[in-house]
Amino acid sequence: MLELHSLSKHFGGVRAVDDLSLTVGQGEIFGLIGPNGSGKSTTVNLICGVFPTTSGAVVFEGQDITDAPSHRVVAAGIGRTFQNIRLFGDLTVWQNLWVAQNSVEERQTGWLTRWLGGQRRGRDYAGELLKFAGLADRANELARNLAFGEQRRLEMARALAARPKLLLLDEPAAGMNAEEVSQLATRIRALRDHGMTILLVEHVMELVMGVTDRIAVLNFGQKIAEGAPAEIRSDPAVRTAYLGTADA
Ligand SMILES: Nc1ncnc2c1ncn2[C@@H]1O[C@H](COP(=O)(O)OP(=O)(O)OP(=O)(O)O)[C@@H](O)[C@H]1O
Ligand SMILES: [Mg+2]
Repeated sequence: MLELHSLSKHFGGVRAVDDLSLTVGQGEIFGLIGPNGSGKSTTVNLICGVFPTTSGAVVFEGQDITDAPSHRVVAAGIGRTFQNIRLFGDLTVWQNLWVAQNSVEERQTGWLTRWLGGQRRGRDYAGELLKFAGLADRANELARNLAFGEQRRLEMARALAARPKLLLLDEPAAGMNAEEVSQLATRIRALRDHGMTILLVEHVMELVMGVTDRIAVLNFGQKIAEGAPAEIRSDPAVRTAYLGTADA
């Protein structure tokens, strides 16, 4: 479903992503892990057209989307969350979803269709999303007044508002307590059960090891390992990358 072909991104002398190839299959929960600065967020940003690639290609459902502008990436069916939450703080929870949803629907449907029914349909879906994110009773609260865990949930709901086929999650569990992480795992599995494909960037190992089907490990922009969670856990190269020594 998603293919990265020898993808590279250099910032000056820094090879943030270096000749990275990987394939994420339809319906898979794919983990992307690695130490701080290993290129995980840069990979997500390259897929989403945040900045141009240095070389290589991004292919989604057989379509070359390398360096496609962000709105085309969204329209193709890719949604994402940001490592640093990006919400409209002065809009309500509901309005944050509404904005995200309409940015897509305006391109997909004409004004007449929207007038005749799009609004109501959109409202139903936004309501479902709020329930899914456990925010139904917070709909009219300003985003900036939400607790941190609630903001993370709204960030995910916002990404889902455009009805993506592939969801890229950049450290969704950062700052969450154990209970919140376990709820997040349940949500991620539920999304997959509804047919969504997920690329999960995460440092919280119990989440990555618990929900992913396969994991790729980055170190200095390069893929140093790929496999099932159990294989990755016992891979010596991965331990070295994380701990700095082979026999740690
Ligand atoms: N916009 C940018 N301009 C210059 N350098 C950048 C930029 N974005 C990332 N980098 C550099 O690229 C490398 C990879 O960064 P990236 O944010 O992709 O790492 P990461 O794996 O997401 O790390 P973390 O786990 O800390 O989020 C780092 O050396 C970083 O400083
Ligand atoms: Mg990052």
